[in-house]
Amino acid sequence: MRFGHFDDAAREYVISTPRTPYPWINYLGTEEFFGLVSHTGGGYCFYRDARLRRLTRYRYNNVPTDVGGRYFYVHDDGDFWTPGWAPVKRELDFYECRVGLSYTKITGERKGLRAEVLYFVPLGTTAEVHRVTLKNTSKAPKSVKLFSFVEFCLWDASDDQNNYQRNLSIGEVEVDGGTIYHKTEYRERRNHYAVHSVNAKVAGFDTDRESFLGPWNGFGEPQAVAEGRSRNSVASGWSPIGSHQLAVDLAPGEERSFVFVLGYVENPVEEKWEGPGVVNKARARQLLARFQTTAQVDAALVALRDYWTEMLSKYTVKSGDERLDRMVNIWNPYQCMVTFNLSRSASYFETGIGRGMGFRDSNQDLLGFVHLVPSRARERILDIAATQKPDGSAYHQYQPLTKRGNNDIGSGFNDDPLWLISGTAAYIKESGDLSVLKETVPFDNDPKDAATLFEHLKRSFHHVLNNLGPHGLPLIGRADWNDCLNLNCFSETPGESFQTTGNRTGRTAESVFIAGLFVHVAPDYAALAEAMGLESEAKAARFHAVRMEETVLKHGWDGEWFLRAYDFFGKKVGSKECEDGQILIEPQGYCVMAGIGVKEGHAKKALDSVKARLDTAHGIVLNQPPYSAYHVELGEISSYPPGYKENAGIFCHNNPWVMIAETVLGRGERAFEYWKKIAPAYREEISEVHRLEPYVYAQMIAGKDAVRHGEAKNSWLTGTAAWNFVAISQHLLGVRPELLGLRVNPCLSAEIPSFTVTRRCRGAEYRIRVKNAATGQPARLRVDGKPIEGTLVPWAPAGATVTIDCEV
Ligand code: BGC
Repeated sequence: MRFGHFDDAAREYVISTPRTPYPWINYLGTEEFFGLVSHTGGGYCFYRDARLRRLTRYRYNNVPTDVGGRYFYVHDDGDFWTPGWAPVKRELDFYECRVGLSYTKITGERKGLRAEVLYFVPLGTTAEVHRVTLKNTSKAPKSVKLFSFVEFCLWDASDDQNNYQRNLSIGEVEVDGGTIYHKTEYRERRNHYAVHSVNAKVAGFDTDRESFLGPWNGFGEPQAVAEGRSRNSVASGWSPIGSHQLAVDLAPGEERSFVFVLGYVENPVEEKWEGPGVVNKARARQLLARFQTTAQVDAALVALRDYWTEMLSKYTVKSGDERLDRMVNIWNPYQCMVTFNLSRSASYFETGIGRGMGFRDSNQDLLGFVHLVPSRARERILDIAATQKPDGSAYHQYQPLTKRGNNDIGSGFNDDPLWLISGTAAYIKESGDLSVLKETVPFDNDPKDAATLFEHLKRSFHHVLNNLGPHGLPLIGRADWNDCLNLNCFSETPGESFQTTGNRTGRTAESVFIAGLFVHVAPDYAALAEAMGLESEAKAARFHAVRMEETVLKHGWDGEWFLRAYDFFGKKVGSKECEDGQILIEPQGYCVMAGIGVKEGHAKKALDSVKARLDTAHGIVLNQPPYSAYHVELGEISSYPPGYKENAGIFCHNNPWVMIAETVLGRGERAFEYWKKIAPAYREEISEVHRLEPYVYAQMIAGKDAVRHGEAKNSWLTGTAAWNFVAISQHLLGVRPELLGLRVNPCLSAEIPSFTVTRRCRGAEYRIRVKNAATGQPARLRVDGKPIEGTLVPWAPAGATVTIDCEV
């Protein structure tokens, strides 16, 4: 069952009923100012840091779900409603929500009045624009009242919901005509305020929540709206809001638009005030002047569309399968941009107050983002590297506002450092920019302790070698990619964090996954060392990779699949000897991606075991059998009920590792089948089961042991976006940048007999035509008509257009 449809020409998903199974959201903003907006207008916005600079309030886990947003209420002759249906929930004669790239447009119609609300953040702007268009579709004149509404957050979103003894006394605003200034804490240490404005004469306003809503009402029944009369309230202490009232007369067929701006303004300390206690509004006025007319808004929207058109032109496919095309051309890269910007901070599953940017997560996000804006990827790599510790280990997270390592979760996730090599290598392959390796980057943000970026990669690589366990496999530390495999934790106290508790400090628990990751990044690391002229380091890296591969085959092989780990006691994890958790997905994917056991036949066996034991109708589960009881020696993985999250859920993040691994063996048929099971556009038809947005991946789909098998959770902010883009675009469609050229080696199901890819990279354009007989063999290429040896097309000079014919 569907709740809408894709409009590929407009690059939109069109939701046709407000009664979706869950709020379906979108993101506004591209660089500094971000908003989340649901299909009913719920959500909130913030400047750069979802925790520390939150403009509007949102209550997570609320009932009903998704209450609070940037709302517009229409009062039409005693009848009042909201165009997004909620929060008033008056039945609409027409409803539609168009989810676009960095904008959302919601339209509702009732009793001859149509209201369309467009939400977006214009490029280079620290504000949301809300354009409201009212149209009289009836045959009689109408006198309508339009009310805007936002509820301000007192900046620190965590404190905002905890510290009421203070917070209910500090709210302050100023009102200046149609502009409301939210200035809580500006009198003391803040130099920023929020502004909420409209480009029309107001008939009234409210800034005090209770005056607007009435003491016992929710957002669905504001008293001011019901009575059609603002109170002109000025908030003092208590809870500041921003609401305008406009009186709008509309002749039959007439339409009028109004531009509301909700923005963030920062003043230099010495320019804070324009009079005693009066905020300096000069910068706000400059901001507002840019969005006074609908023509200005239209132009900003066109600029935003052009920005996306340019970015998406870097990789386009035409395959005859519209679901494949829309994932690769539109939605997957779009989600990659969102994860790059927000890491795991703010979604409808992440509160934005709990986590900073992940070291591991951000590096993986780069893999799907580098081609969109390489220069931003470069900057991000340097930021991440600057949080690395001198011994090569990493803080697990850092705060985007300060760009410093964050001690909340601390360090000791021993896979973290290696991801910096993956992220950097991806950037250099895309851009050819080896100079980044020579950039000076501090350790732990200490300028006195700085070295080249390459030295950071070196310490990452050697951190693994300096931390090997009894079998010669890498020590896992607190956990590896699987945050929930906590082999040194041994927690028996309720509420204790599995990630930060380390009751045992032994150096015994080892990870086969990290070994696979190590062997996978080693060739890239060695090639970068060579590029730096460090031949002996390159040689050493290759040597260590071979040795690690041997170790995996000796101590990490269980007979039919790769082991997952050795626990604190040296017992096997992920072995046929175990009762639960006999096989786990991660090492099967990563070891084969790294080429381990391919020639010995182990790789094939491992992937066949995945197919036989882990595959389901909705994707590949993480482990089988699920852990049926809590294992103190394994940690959080065994804390989840069977079928959810890391305990046998379908983790869509690591499914693509298996897809890529299948392409290593030339099995494109199976790889494609796996991808279609989790790719949202293919799941659209079962939206009532999947329940989340059909345009973005979810982190998890409940596994076969769960009651709600097939139900997705945690959409948007997940490494799933980057990894699936890498799998489908670089390995199944088979077009990927390497240091010395563009690799063209598709491995795709015969279902797609031919396709074309246009890839723009390093200033040149590659037009690739593929005939796909799905032979499972390496492709045969002709470049500009001439056959070449192998599948690597050398880089063409900037400005060139290269035509590639490929048969496979
Ligand atoms: C985290 C990832 C982790 C994954 C698996 C996600 O919530 O953001 O860093 O790899 O869970 O545990």
